[in-house]
Amino acid sequence: MNTREIKIKITEFSELSELTKDDQKLLQMAADSASQSYAPYSEFHVGAAVLLENGEIICGSNQENAAYPAGLCAERVALFYANSKFPGIAVKSLAISAHADHFVMNKPISPCGTCRQVIAETESRQKNKIKILMRGESGPVNMTEGIENLLPLTFYEEKLKKK
Ligand code: THU
Repeated sequence: MNTREIKIKITEFSELSELTKDDQKLLQMAADSASQSYAPYSEFHVGAAVLLENGEIICGSNQENAAYPAGLCAERVALFYANSKFPGIAVKSLAISAHADHFVMNKPISPCGTCRQVIAETESRQKNKIKILMRGESGPVNMTEGIENLLPLTFYEEKLKKK
């Protein structure tokens, strides 16, 4: 028997001003996008902003549905749209921000498991890590470089690809 410990690396910034101007801007765009979400059921508003290697920024927000599972998280709305509009262009950074109608979201949002898997597919496709910035409406920012830190033992299976 052998027990392995896996380390993850998350950097916490207590002030927004500790971030680069570009990262601050990306988080602000994610926050603006959260305000445009369609979230009448959860009343929890999430925005994501994706910075691409060509400098384009694509935003998305959560889109809910009366049939709950038909809705989609902000991260997937943004990542799927980015790759539809700019197929083959790598994602450099992903900023995620959230606020709620009925409580103060003063800690960083952390993407759901399915979105983590989609971020993992994006990294695997482009063979480069993504910088992920996470924030609530206030409070600290969490930053990590690479989905491995949010999804250790990630499921990748190159052999599933037919070519
Ligand atoms: N949600 C996101 O958009 N991103 C996340 O990382 C977590 C959850 C959405 C899904 C749903 O519309 C609402 O937040 C409550 O779960």
